[in-house]
This record gives sequence, structure tokens and C-alpha cells, in this order.
Amino acid sequence: MVRESPKQKILFVDDEPHFLSSIARMLHGYKAKWDLDYATNVDEAYTMVLNKNYDAIVSDITMPRKSGFDFLRMLQQTEKTSYVPVIILTGNAEAALKREALSLGAADLLNKPIMREDLVARLQSILRLKHFQDQLAEFNEQLADKVKERTRELELSRQDLMWRLAKAAEYRDEETGGHITRVAVYCLNLAIQLGLDSETVERIFLASPLHDVGKIGISDVILLKPGKLTPEERKIMETHTEIGAAILTEAPQGMHYLLDEQDDLIQTFANEPLKQTAANIAISHHEKWDGSGYPKGLRGEAIPLEGQIAAVADVYDALRSTRPYKPSFDVDKVMGIMRSERGKHFSPQILDAFEKVQPEFEEIRLKHLSEEPLAK
Ligand SMILES: [Fe+2]
Ligand SMILES: [Fe+2]
Repeated sequence: MVRESPKQKILFVDDEPHFLSSIARMLHGYKAKWDLDYATNVDEAYTMVLNKNYDAIVSDITMPRKSGFDFLRMLQQTEKTSYVPVIILTGNAEAALKREALSLGAADLLNKPIMREDLVARLQSILRLKHFQDQLAEFNEQLADKVKERTRELELSRQDLMWRLAKAAEYRDEETGGHITRVAVYCLNLAIQLGLDSETVERIFLASPLHDVGKIGISDVILLKPGKLTPEERKIMETHTEIGAAILTEAPQGMHYLLDEQDDLIQTFANEPLKQTAANIAISHHEKWDGSGYPKGLRGEAIPLEGQIAAVADVYDALRSTRPYKPSFDVDKVMGIMRSERGKHFSPQILDAFEKVQPEFEEIRLKHLSEEPLAK
């Protein structure tokens, strides 16, 4: 809360102008310390409270139209005004009224007629309280900002590490520079076109570069073999899907040393939604809609949606790119191949979405085609 002046601000509310004048006289000596305002009815006082950050209010109970109780109720209605401490002026023997004032949120009570020393003592004590309350509110606000900032930094650092892991895997694969970036952006466009919620879209975008992370576990002899793979080699190559999922979801045992055997926490790390999405993509991006894919031969909707999406993005990019075993094909040829796989390799729904965003894929491709090949 921004302070308007270093002086603490107090509002006095009483329908008797004489009473207010006597208060002004009583507190004349405190002018340097306190900023004093006066109102003769509740509506006027309420408007003043809305427009100025008072540190304390002193209010009478019995006033024409709206009473001090009405005023307390009005102040409780909004968060800003509910924090201003109110001293209620009561007559000596009105125990029921005092109880009601306290139950409506009054911070303190003061009997009329008022003694100057009593008034000053009560004001000093609730102003001190208000000062600490303000400091605490300010501290909490700063703390909340800090937490928000740190959470965002952690989130970005996690995303950055995921990306670096994908880069590490791609590093071993020749001639695929820019592939993971293009696949990620294709997946992003497909997910948006499919109308998925923004959190899922973001997760698929961040997870898709890891679709081939399991290639880290495939030997160079097979991974970089220029010719056709033997059936045995193909079988080994296909395990990159399972290796990828294992890398992404196996509980990190080494963390036990750091986290003092906190199994729950370690398991939570392994099951994070982003890692789960990445693992789903890693294990299912070679499954086919008609069940003829690998590693599980899943069919149709049994294939995780993110895997179905990544399959379309991955195959499109492979067909449009030069690979050790093939030249790059032109758009017409690639579209012919993609369409012929509708309902076979690809989910019809995702292929339909692909048809709509494919022109954008070509723009993305141009943008990420010139990406520097990975240094060897
Ligand atoms: Fe793959
Ligand atoms: Fe790929």
C-alpha cells in the first residue's frame, strides 16, 4: 500500500460538530505526527475512507440515518477498508452495544465523555498495531512476488534442461539438424488446430523434441549405418522408443543421496506431467493407427494423443528432409504419401488437422531449415 504522507492518518466521525471541535483541540499538540480528518455522517466518512488510506478511525455509535454499526458493516465489505482499525465511542453503561461493536469488528472501545489521555493512549496503541500490520502486508506481498519469480525461473530452467537432453540425443544423429525444433513447432500447430487446452499444447510442444531421446542407447553401428538395417538391427533400433520412455520416467535413484530417501518426492519428479507426456511421445511415436506400428502395436485411440500428433509431425519432417537413406521429397509427393496413410499410419482426425496447418509447416520449415548443423 502506497503511503500518501509519512504522518499517520486518523478519521473522526460524529454527528456533533462541537464534539469534533473538542477532539481537534485535544489533539492540537499531535498535529506534526498525525493527520486528522473529520466527518459528520457515515456516508461522508465512508467516501473519505475509500479515497484515503486511513490508519485509524474513531466513530460514534448513535448518529441520524446511519449508525456507527452501519459504518462498521460497510467497512467490512471490502478488503481495503476492513483492515482499518476502528475505535467505537460508547456511553458508559451500554454493555450490549459494546458487545455488538466488538462483534462487528471494532478494534477498541472508548467511553464518552472522552479524556484526552485515554484517547491518545488508545490511538497510539492501535496505530502501532496498524503499522506492524502494514509492514507484514508489504512483506507478504514481496514474498509472494519472489515466490512467483522463483517458480517461473525453476519452470524455465526445467524446460531448458529438457531441451538440452533432446539436443544431446540429436547430437549423435547425423543430418537431422533442426529436426527437433521443426517437430516441436509442427506439434504445437497441430495441437492448437485440434483445439487442445493451452496447458496441454505447451506440454506437447516442450515434450516432442524428446521423441527420439532413446537413440542415446542405440549403438553407432546401427544408428549411423548407411545401408539398410538387418531385421535384427531393426529390432534393436526400435527399442529407442522404450529406452526413451525409461530415461524419462524411471525414478532417479541417485536422488536418494541428495533427498535423504524421500521416495515420495523422487517418485513425484519421475511422474511430472511434462515428463509423462515426453515419455508417452517417446514410446508411441512409431505406433500406427491401424495397429501395425511398434513397440506395442497399439491401435487407434489406444495410442496416446500426443504420440499420434508427434507421428504426423515426425514423418512429415523426415519425408521433407534429406536422410542418409533418402533424398528430400517435394511437397506434392509428401502430401500424396501422407494422405495415403490416412487411417493406416495416421489418425484420420489428426491428418485432417494436418491438412489445415500444413501450409504453415512449410513456413516453419523454411525458417528452421537453415539452422546450423550440429557441431561434430
Ligand atoms: Fe523415433
Ligand atoms: Fe524424429
